[in-house]
Amino acid sequence: MRLILGIETSCDETAAAVVDEDLRVLSSVVESSIDVHRAFGGVVPELAGRAHVATLGPVVARALEGAGRDVRDPGVVAVAVTSGPGLVGSLLVGLSAAKAYSLVWGVPLVGVNHLEGHLFAPLLERPDLTWPLLTLLVSGGHSIFVLQSGPGEYRVLGETIDDAAGEAYDKVARYLGLGYPGGPEIDRLAALGDPHALRLPVSMTGEGYDVSFSGLKSALVRAADTHREVPLADVAASFQGAVVEQLTRKLRAALGAFPVAGVALAGGVAANSALRASVAALAEEFSVASYLPSLAMCTDNAAMIAAAGWHRLAAQGASDLSLSADPNWVLA
Ligand code: KG4
Ligand code: ZN
Repeated sequence: MRLILGIETSCDETAAAVVDEDLRVLSSVVESSIDVHRAFGGVVPELAGRAHVATLGPVVARALEGAGRDVRDPGVVAVAVTSGPGLVGSLLVGLSAAKAYSLVWGVPLVGVNHLEGHLFAPLLERPDLTWPLLTLLVSGGHSIFVLQSGPGEYRVLGETIDDAAGEAYDKVARYLGLGYPGGPEIDRLAALGDPHALRLPVSMTGEGYDVSFSGLKSALVRAADTHREVPLADVAASFQGAVVEQLTRKLRAALGAFPVAGVALAGGVAANSALRASVAALAEEFSVASYLPSLAMCTDNAAMIAAAGWHRLAAQGASDLSLSADPNWVLA
């Protein structure tokens, strides 16, 4: 059995996973430093980097043990590592470790784009997945509509022109005095509230597939300040309704314009209950399959990096050992 080791350290998750050539996940270990960052209301880059240094070695050892291998001689055929986009100090920790493993074990190194990794997540849980696929990748740093003709073959249709969806959730949560990260808490409250309580604008209703959340965030703050009598759950529901409405309109337009076999969600915001329900309904409306990854596969992990690593190794060969981190690497 040919195995690849994946390593992910682009943000606050330190992760390693072992995945075989048929994309079966033998092990996947994720340690998050989120508790360190919570008090600051966001990820503190230096603290994230330090946490990776402390945690990555044991995480890699546990991932290899989970796959029945030993870190001294794991018998993997390659090491895949996220080399961008992300926090540069965090990326460099994973990259340096991956180079050392690659040298010591005498196996190739493969640099992987973190966003491309997210696109592989639905496939890991659904090997029966059919193409072409429309994927909405929504996380704390990105909101991207991607048309995929096959694994690793994609075209970006549109993306956010300002804040990412998750970023908007986190900023609104901070304004409302909720904890960090704010997405899960707003999602929970929204389920108890009335989405029509506050009238909020839906941005970017014209042609194209770009979205925007910055104006919505400001409108919400204004509306909530003016209508202080509106309960928190109703504020959360109104915000969530407007976010999901904007994303759903663009997905509906894309499903109408491109003949795809399925629609998928990826990234941390893919955990959102209203967005998942909306995508499932859209899939029914257009008679296409829907792929909604589990929570563990939505958020950052190394199994998706390992899967993208297999693809990159086959398509482009190994990376040079001089490979550096690219914090702003775009999906192209
Ligand atoms: O993909 P991810 O784990 O990290 C990166 O940004 O790469 O995404 C984290 C983001 C945070 O902004 C968080 O608030 C958001 O995902 N999030 C959610 C939910 N769960 C996590 N947003 C809305 N609803 C949720 N249930
Ligand atoms: Zn991510």
